[in-house]
Amino acid sequence: MGAMRESPGRTCPVSYRYPVDSFAGPAALATDTLWIAGGLYGNRYALAALLEAFETEPGDKALIFNGDFHWFDAEPGEFELIDQAVAGFHALRGNVETEIAAPGEGAGCGCAYPDWVGDQTVGHSNRIMERLRSAALASGRDLGRLAALPMTAVAEVGGERIGIVHGDAESLAGWSFSQEILSTPGGVAHAEREFARTGVRVFASSHTCLPVLLRLPGERALVNNGAAGMPNFRGERYGIATRISVRPYRGALYGTRCAALYVDAIALRYDAAAWERRFLELWPAGSDAHRSYYERIVSGPVFERAA
Ligand SMILES: [Fe+2]
Repeated sequence: MGAMRESPGRTCPVSYRYPVDSFAGPAALATDTLWIAGGLYGNRYALAALLEAFETEPGDKALIFNGDFHWFDAEPGEFELIDQAVAGFHALRGNVETEIAAPGEGAGCGCAYPDWVGDQTVGHSNRIMERLRSAALASGRDLGRLAALPMTAVAEVGGERIGIVHGDAESLAGWSFSQEILSTPGGVAHAEREFARTGVRVFASSHTCLPVLLRLPGERALVNNGAAGMPNFRGERYGIATRISVRPYRGALYGTRCAALYVDAIALRYDAAAWERRFLELWPAGSDAHRSYYERIVSGPVFERAA
């Protein structure tokens, strides 16, 4: 099994680790309301739903894409559409953008998949990445811009420091902020130490594909939006974005208060039928993305929403 863990798609490249002082500097932006959308995965309909929802937000606001905005958009025109739209906002690079622009030695898709994700899925992901990279090159978009995006950001919302990451507090593709790890006492203790070390009020992450909202002692919270561009709950076909604000929000899926902040999960109710048709054009039956993701795109993950 030791050899298996070194395979492409399993490893976490050293370059994915952030400098230890990543969350110590001045905030990159300050706002009253911050929307955070990780895991758009090249879903143009989820993008439209996100921008429409963000548009209706009143007052001082900002939107940040915290990585993996590309993935299924493995066709030059589709890639261009997504890349151009995201370029108008703040963005972090996820493992997908990092591997498109500057493929790491042996990283494959850069997902650093843990043991509970099967070998077949890892193989599909590596091949999706190869096709996406070709589309990105053919699109004529500036891939150097993607490579130069930061891995982390600190934003100030209502004067509170928010740590924005793609993976976890240490690495671009870390899984410490996954539902699986945070369901263990050791995982929660580790998260608490990361809050103490970095001093942030809220960590907002993505990458692990399933949503999390965890309150921690000392008025801190960890929020993982799951995916903006894929279903997150069994039988429910919408993406999720995170909203952190000094103001409450009507119609959030679920949320919590954290000091003076409102931390909410917002449903991105995109045109699921249109996306399914587009997905099938890009990734027909038998293709790598179809094998790994079609079931989730149609029916959601095997994961029920807690009441
Ligand atoms: Fe990711």
